[in-house]
Amino acid sequence: MIFNCELRKVVDDTYEIEIGHKLGEKLISDLRNGLTGKNKFAVVTDSNVEGLYARDILAALREAGFRAEIFVIPAGEKSKTRAMKEFVEDAMLEKGFRRDCAVIAVGGGVVTDLAGFVAGTFGRGVPFVNYATTLLAAADASVGGKTAVDTPLATNLIGIFNQPAKVYIDIDTWSTLPRRQTASGLAETIKHGCLGDRELFEYLEANVEKVFSGDTDACTYIAERNCAVKYSVVMKDERESGLREVLNLGHTVGRAIETVSDYRLLHGEAVAIGLAAQARLGEKYGYISRENRERLEALLKRAELPCLIPDYIDREALVKKLYTDKKVRDGKLRFVFQNEIGAIMQFGGNSFAKPVAENEIAEIIAQM
Ligand SMILES: NC(=O)c1ccc[n+]([C@@H]2O[C@H](COP(=O)([O-])OP(=O)(O)OC[C@H]3O[C@@H](n4cnc5c(N)ncnc54)[C@H](O)[C@@H]3O)[C@@H](O)[C@H]2O)c1
Repeated sequence: MIFNCELRKVVDDTYEIEIGHKLGEKLISDLRNGLTGKNKFAVVTDSNVEGLYARDILAALREAGFRAEIFVIPAGEKSKTRAMKEFVEDAMLEKGFRRDCAVIAVGGGVVTDLAGFVAGTFGRGVPFVNYATTLLAAADASVGGKTAVDTPLATNLIGIFNQPAKVYIDIDTWSTLPRRQTASGLAETIKHGCLGDRELFEYLEANVEKVFSGDTDACTYIAERNCAVKYSVVMKDERESGLREVLNLGHTVGRAIETVSDYRLLHGEAVAIGLAAQARLGEKYGYISRENRERLEALLKRAELPCLIPDYIDREALVKKLYTDKKVRDGKLRFVFQNEIGAIMQFGGNSFAKPVAENEIAEIIAQM
């Protein structure tokens, strides 16, 4: 006897990304209008953002008549673990949360990655919204539906695709970001310019300092362009079966060095080094001219980002760590390369990553 369990699904994961200023009130009115279909909210945040923004959102939720509790993780990448996910889940269960709730992530990429993953598995899945408070989360982490935690082996190895009900990008929150965090967010912005938006790259060449000084027009411009680039890619390939790999530009060396540095390097700093590494290798292969590679390095420096590998990094350990990359296929390292500035190299069909021999990248790493 064979039962045929027909379960064809049509899923509409459409959602809005709202870019603006002080979006707390908008969040409350959206929730009142049934954005998540829930009246009970778990506000997940970190120890830095709690006092800056999350407590205000909690108070506004309660004032609006919703049931809401706050769950706070220690700030920093080292909180993006399975253990911390369990901590949040157990705390939610303890407070009586079941399937009747939605999660509101208030913070940077660590919070949105972790909270989105919690929401995806809590009671087999509850809705969540992201209220992004870092440039990095606005540029990349809070949009696109990839959620994950790190393991001791490498970053983002355990997670799920899970789209939020809505993303709020509150540009005003960037004003309290430490300068080093603004720079870190600029790395993903520069990456977007390199892979798909020459105008964005050139805008940054002309205006990067304005982002540090909090110029509203500059911040709004980069927030919008980041979303446009990311979405032109994610809409075509949500599950990273081909095209989405291009968003990995700079991340082969970037993710590896982030882990090998034991998170002394911020995510964006690691990505900046990764961007410089792919450009050096790309120059060797003839994918980018020396002039454009130097332009990239000059922009990274002006964005207060590193282009060289710090002395404390063990080069051999770094080369070994490259093999934890998700693009590795049949034991071979694969890299994404920019094509000059504003475009990406394509290697036939739907392939955007090229196999690279270990000695070739090891040589580049040794030079850096
Ligand atoms: N899911 C994705 O597609 C994706 C894409 C890129 C990066 N990421 C992940 O994002 C993470 C990095 O994101 P991040 O840089 O936002 O990290 P983060 O969440 O750790 O935030 C950086 C620091 O800034 C603090 N902070 C946050 N908002 C603040 C504010 N408004 N004012 C003052 N301080 C503030 C935080 O407490 C933290 O100390 C990494 O884990 C990375 O893997 C995910």
